[in-house]
Amino acid sequence: MVFYRRVGEVPGKRHTQFRDADGRLYHEEMQGEEGFSWNQSFLYHRHPPTMITAAETVPDGGGELRGNDPLLPRHLRTHELKLGGDVVTGRKLLLGNADVSISYVAADADSPIYRNGVGDELYYVEAGEAVLESVHGALAVGEGDYVVVPAATTHRWALRGPELRVLVVVAEGAGHVRPPGRFLSPLGQFLDGSPYNERDIRGPERLLAVEDRETEVLVRHRGGLVRYVYAHHPFDVVGWDGYNYPYALSIRDYQPSTGSLHLPPPTYITFEGPGFVVCSFVPRLFDYHPDAVPVPYNHSNVDSDEVLFYCGGDFMSRAGTGIGMGSISLHPAGFIHGPQPGSAEKAIGARRTEEYAVMIDTFQPLRLGEAVADAEDPDYAWSWARAERGAG
Ligand SMILES: [Fe+2]
Repeated sequence: MVFYRRVGEVPGKRHTQFRDADGRLYHEEMQGEEGFSWNQSFLYHRHPPTMITAAETVPDGGGELRGNDPLLPRHLRTHELKLGGDVVTGRKLLLGNADVSISYVAADADSPIYRNGVGDELYYVEAGEAVLESVHGALAVGEGDYVVVPAATTHRWALRGPELRVLVVVAEGAGHVRPPGRFLSPLGQFLDGSPYNERDIRGPERLLAVEDRETEVLVRHRGGLVRYVYAHHPFDVVGWDGYNYPYALSIRDYQPSTGSLHLPPPTYITFEGPGFVVCSFVPRLFDYHPDAVPVPYNHSNVDSDEVLFYCGGDFMSRAGTGIGMGSISLHPAGFIHGPQPGSAEKAIGARRTEEYAVMIDTFQPLRLGEAVADAEDPDYAWSWARAERGAG
């Protein structure tokens, strides 16, 4: 994250003696990005966070990707994917490349304790409520929240209801998901005019009271997955401070820009990661020039593949395509895409849109995951031509 937070007790100076009531030293841990050169947090544990007593390799299933061949626009209906599992081990891989993977899960169980030791994980909660429990404490999240979990954060998803629907975007290229630099002053304050700022960001509120016991932790590393047994519960933290912690931002707190004529998608950038960006489309006034065409123009995504996750409201420009709540569209570089024929004329005079959608643009081509077979609408690629035939 980009600003300072402190939860629980920390000593007056880093790397000094800090003891419990019985005189035992707490165990300091630095969680730092880019080695020792970027944002850091300092956590104080009751027990050393290093004490593993067993390790086993865990099969890393479901990760196979195939080329988008023949190159086609794709429509994936996430609500047709099988329900069940947890946010960590139950995610269904849909799209990915060396920089980023995009999965979806309709979870009905709490996750194991997990740590991605490679890259940051960004979640978008489509429906349901949960508490993200971590070494940094408890963070309540729900429908409409982005949740950013920095690499190396030991955490667990605890559901607060029967189901949690989540889009999962993982930085696979050993990188970090951050607010765009142009939102920030050189010292990291959100500038006035940014579409969100410190007041919109929620961090962990309170530390967790955990029983001291042997605890399994599933860890993603550069070569796969390992399950460790730790001698003590990793959430045994009495305090921490710093800039590196999980946080949530509601898409409803994202303030959109509007213009007299159509503004391009990068206007709505929300986060950037290594090899991808995330944008938020939220309810907003349409373009107010008297001759404005409110739906987007046709466009070629030179240098990027474009993914849209439709997660609320209506999707005027996509009427007649089968796109609906929970749909994901993939419009790859090399394919020209745009509104369905007829929708530009129909849109003229519309004053506002009520849509919510999350866009992920990747700079390398996306490949297709195994779960695509369970979710794909095979007719989508032909929907533009079909719309003209229907209209004519
Ligand atoms: Fe587009």
